[in-house]
Amino acid sequence: MLRIDALCKSVPGTPPRLLFHDLALRVGAGECVAVVGESGSGKSTLLNCIAGLEPVDGGEIEVAGERIDRLDDDALARLRRRHFGFVFQAFHILPHLSLLQNVALPLWLLERPEREAAARARAMLERVGLGGRADDAPQQLSGGEMQRVAIARALVHRPQLVLADEPTGNLDPGRAADVLDLLLAQIRGNGAAGVLVTHSRAAARRADRVLELGPAGLVDVTART
Ligand SMILES: Nc1ncnc2c1ncn2[C@@H]1O[C@H](COP(=O)(O)OP(=O)(O)O)[C@@H](O)[C@H]1O
Ligand SMILES: [Mg+2]
Repeated sequence: MLRIDALCKSVPGTPPRLLFHDLALRVGAGECVAVVGESGSGKSTLLNCIAGLEPVDGGEIEVAGERIDRLDDDALARLRRRHFGFVFQAFHILPHLSLLQNVALPLWLLERPEREAAARARAMLERVGLGGRADDAPQQLSGGEMQRVAIARALVHRPQLVLADEPTGNLDPGRAADVLDLLLAQIRGNGAAGVLVTHSRAAARRADRVLELGPAGLVDVTART
């Protein structure tokens, strides 16, 4: 589902700083990998590169059989809308929309009929335990609830690739475990591929593999996590 080979990325500066070099990654359908690494090691940048939101210096990225490093901006935007689900570090919940509208947004962008979008968004909110609050405004939510809305929105269109950046970053441990279970169950149940960036060992252990990001790329540290 996701194949990366020989990926290189440096960031501007004097001198420019190499984040990673010759990075390779395979994530199969129904599989979720955790990416760990020191702060500033480039984990968020790697997710942005996979999403086609940041240019790379070299290498190949293939998602669901498409080489995203070869697509033009329009084709990339279409692919992203259809096949990608994101859970960002800052939730990017739109304050002027209700929870239902926030979750339905990916389906609107895919031009799904209004009734279908609303029904699927409502079902997703129920899955994350917010079924009774579909018409509420986001201002009334706690951090944990926001995170659940962000997950519902990332999964509502059943994306083939889910990219999550610290999805449990602001949650207490009990809540974090719930949110993570939900995310993993949805990824596995939909036969999607998941890349989960996390600081938390407990979170990383729930993934199928744990990979540590460093200048030489990703090293499998599952056995010592
Ligand atoms: N566009 C950019 N220009 C300059 N430096 C950047 C840019 N993007 C990221 N960086 C730097 O690259 C490093 C990796 O950042 P990031 O991917 O956010 O790390 P992580 O998510 O692992 O904490 C950081 O030192 C950050 O300051
Ligand atoms: Mg980061």
